Amino acid sequence: MRSTIGIDSLALGVPRGHLDLRDLAAARGVPASKYLDGIGTHRMAIAAADEDPVTLAASAARRAFALSGLDPKEIGLCVVGTETAVDHSKPIAAFLHGLLGLPSACRIFETKHACFGGTAGLLNALDWIASGSARGRSALVVCADVARYAPGSPGEPTQGAGAVAMIVSERPRLIELDVGRSGAYARDVHDFWRPLHSKDAAVDGQLSVQCYLDALAGAYGEWRRDEPADAEPLARTCYHVPYGKMARKAHRRRRMIDGLDEASADATFAAEVASSLLLPAQIGNVYTGSLYVALASLLHAEARAIEGQRVGLFSYGSGCVAEFFAGRVAAGAGELVARLDLDAPVRASTRLTMAEYEAIRSADAGADRRAAPPSAALHLGASEQPVAFLGVDTADRRIYGLATPS
Ligand SMILES: CC(C)(COP(=O)(O)OP(=O)(O)OC[C@H]1O[C@@H](n2cnc3c(N)ncnc32)[C@H](O)[C@@H]1OP(=O)(O)O)[C@@H](O)C(=O)NCCC(=O)NCCS
Repeated sequence: MRSTIGIDSLALGVPRGHLDLRDLAAARGVPASKYLDGIGTHRMAIAAADEDPVTLAASAARRAFALSGLDPKEIGLCVVGTETAVDHSKPIAAFLHGLLGLPSACRIFETKHACFGGTAGLLNALDWIASGSARGRSALVVCADVARYAPGSPGEPTQGAGAVAMIVSERPRLIELDVGRSGAYARDVHDFWRPLHSKDAAVDGQLSVQCYLDALAGAYGEWRRDEPADAEPLARTCYHVPYGKMARKAHRRRRMIDGLDEASADATFAAEVASSLLLPAQIGNVYTGSLYVALASLLHAEARAIEGQRVGLFSYGSGCVAEFFAGRVAAGAGELVARLDLDAPVRASTRLTMAEYEAIRSADAGADRRAAPPSAALHLGASEQPVAFLGVDTADRRIYGLATPS
């Protein structure tokens, strides 16, 4: 049975500034080609002290509502996937509930499993609608993260930050997702972790690459088992993109599972994957959001051309869990995508100097303890920046400012 549940609107939120990886390479004494070609990333978005997963999530969600004509009052479920939460107890979904004016009759929560948390939210939203619990309402699923590794470490060029907001509904205008049909894989591994005392992630980089590829083989093999022999092939596949080269390796592995030799598998990359890596190369790693930045990139580049065609999606979360699932680009998606102007926040971002990047990174440790202005100005006026983290009050409550829509 064809599903008619899926993503009806999608928008990105990114920080104001980014670091050009040529500047990082020069500062670290590494050939720029290692980052641009070897890693496959050109820029990484850098969150300043007043930007965090809450502000990025709110910016993305406000765009998703404003540009698609949907109303926050239609939301009955709001899930935020993140692995860089701002509080051990209060979820980002609660901050969003306030900042977006979601209805009080709404289930809200946060999900964590490394980079898989957003997918957990999305699959949950599909099931919520399919079960009838939605009663005609839609779900807001947001993936929001700030990816940080220690300066000078191998992980440093694979940082990034941002959010992807998706409104999940019946009769979706962007992509219908197959409900109840996915291939899952899980295993207890220590490839990536972030101790409670640290804002920077710890990672066994080469092990994480191997675990990702093993998980892809497991999840895709499981998904493929249920594909009828005469199934329509996947026209495109989006992968979790910690950095572009990882998606390239993943695609090679997947197409070799399909029976192609290495050269033939690589020959399909340009047509089946390349357009999904354009935006990730401009933003860097968004952890939970990375797969959905890839989907945004694909839709931005090709939605009109691939209306009605099947797209595969692969989500990986270290630790680890993975899921492979698929969908079909909706008829008319191209027209909505043009209106959503998906890369506008990326185009608006400005290039930081190395000194500005280093100042932001060295202020990271104290960023969550900055004192909010005494009167905690809750409105930013007609500021360019829609939502800002203003600091904490005397009881360590986080205070956010919201711009008045102009
Ligand atoms: C990804 C990661 C492991 C790479 O670390 P590294 O040890 O510095 O990099 P490598 O030496 O493996 O080089 C990376 C690639 O650049 C290539 N490269 C190196 N120098 C190059 C140059 N001058 N020009 C072009 N390519 C170059 C390497 O050949 C390698 O390509 P390959 O993977 O196809 O062999 C590291 O950035 C990391 O730990 N990132 C965080 C974890 C992560 O994102 N994991 C992904 C799975 S979740």
